[in-house]
Amino acid sequence: MRRIALLGATGSIGRQAIEVVERNPELELCALASASTDLDALAREHGVEHAQVGGDLIELLEASEPDVVLNAVVGFAGVGATLWALERGVTLALANKESLVAAGELALAAKERGGGLLLPVDSEHSALFQCLDGRDRDSVDSLVLTASGGPFRGRSRAELEDVTVEDALAHPTWAMGPKITVDSATLANKGLELIEAHFLFGTPYDRIEIVVHPTSVVHSLVRFRDGTALAHLGYPDMTVPISYALTYPERAPTDVPRLDLAAGLTLEFSAPDLETFPLAALARRAGEAGGTYPAVYNAANEVAVAAFLERRLPFLGIGEIVEETLTAADGAPARDLDALVEADAEARRLAGRGVPVG
Ligand SMILES: NC(=O)c1ccc[n+]([C@@H]2O[C@H](COP(=O)([O-])OP(=O)(O)OC[C@H]3O[C@@H](n4cnc5c(N)ncnc54)[C@H](OP(=O)(O)O)[C@@H]3O)[C@@H](O)[C@H]2O)c1
Repeated sequence: MRRIALLGATGSIGRQAIEVVERNPELELCALASASTDLDALAREHGVEHAQVGGDLIELLEASEPDVVLNAVVGFAGVGATLWALERGVTLALANKESLVAAGELALAAKERGGGLLLPVDSEHSALFQCLDGRDRDSVDSLVLTASGGPFRGRSRAELEDVTVEDALAHPTWAMGPKITVDSATLANKGLELIEAHFLFGTPYDRIEIVVHPTSVVHSLVRFRDGTALAHLGYPDMTVPISYALTYPERAPTDVPRLDLAAGLTLEFSAPDLETFPLAALARRAGEAGGTYPAVYNAANEVAVAAFLERRLPFLGIGEIVEETLTAADGAPARDLDALVEADAEARRLAGRGVPVG
C-alpha cells in the first residue's frame, strides 16, 4: 500500500488524482487538504482520517505520515509542503510548480539532505523526466518545452488590449484551474515551467528552449549530442502524468485513449512570440538572474493574475506588473524559508502598487 497525502484535493489536479487512486488498489489516500472547499463527503467516501480545510499543511503531513505527498495546491501556498517532503525524503509528486520556482535552491538542498524522489506531475516535465531516464547527462544537448500557445496564439498586442477573463479562461487543449489557465494565456505558465525544468534537471537556461505546438500531443522533447531527439507523445490528459508519478516506477494502466496515428496527427511547431507574450522572456531573465528573482517573478504574477481574475487589471497589465516588480526587487538570495517568505511578501507588496484599487 502506498499512502498518499493529497494537497489541493478539490482542484483540477486533485479530482483527477482521486480517480487515479480509485483505479489502483495499491494506492490509498491518507490525507486531504483544500483551502476552503468542504472535504467531509470526500473523506468519508475514502475513509480518510486526516482531512483539513485551510490551516497548516505541515501539521497535516506530520499527523498523516504519507509515503507520497501529491502537492496540487496552487501558488506559493504550497512551498512549505514541498520543502517538508524533500527534507524528509518522502516522495514528492509535484504539480505545484510555483513552489519549486520560488524555492528552487532551498528545495534542491532539502532534496539532497532528504535523499527522496521528486517526481514531476506537470505533463511537460513528466515527459522530460521519462525521456531523460537512464541517459548519461553528458549526452544531453538541450531540452525543449512545448507550449500550446493558449487561446490568444497568433494575436498581436493590440488585439489583446480588451480580452476578458472569459476569453482567457477558454483554453484550447487543457481543462485546468483558473490561475494556470490564465498563466497559459500569458505564457507565464511556460515561464514557470522553464524555471521548473532548470531546477528539476539541472539544465542551464540557454539549453532549454520553448516552442509553440498547438495540439499539445508532443509533451516535450530532449535533444542529444548525436543529433537524436526523443519526444514524449500522447493525447493531452493529466491523468497520465498523475498516474505515472503516483505509481512510479510502475506504469499503471489508464483509460486514456491510445494514440491513433492512422487517424492523423498535426505536429506543428513554431517559435513563441515573445514580444506579444513577454512573460516567458521575463521568466528567463528572472531565472538567469537567480537569487530570489524567480520567487519575485512568481509572486508578482500571482498578484497580477488574481487582480485580472477580479477584473481590476487588464490582461496586458499582468506582464507590466511582473516586469516592474522584477526591476524594483533586489533579488538577494534567501538563506532559509523565512527569508524566502519575506522576499515573496515584499514582491507582493511591490506588485500590489501596480494594481488599480478597485
Ligand atoms: N490543472 C492542470 O491541468 C495542471 C497541469 C499542470 C500543473 N498544474 C499545477 O497544479 C497546481 C494545481 O492546479 P489546479 O489547476 O488543480 O488548481 P485549482 O483547480 O485551482 O485547485 C487548487 C487546489 O488547491 C487548493 N488550495 C489552494 N490553496 C490552498 C492552501 N493554502 N491550502 C490547501 N489547499 C489549497 C484548492 O482548494 P479550494 O477548492 O478550497 O480552493 C484546490 O483544491 C498548480 O500549481 C498548477 O500550476 C495543474
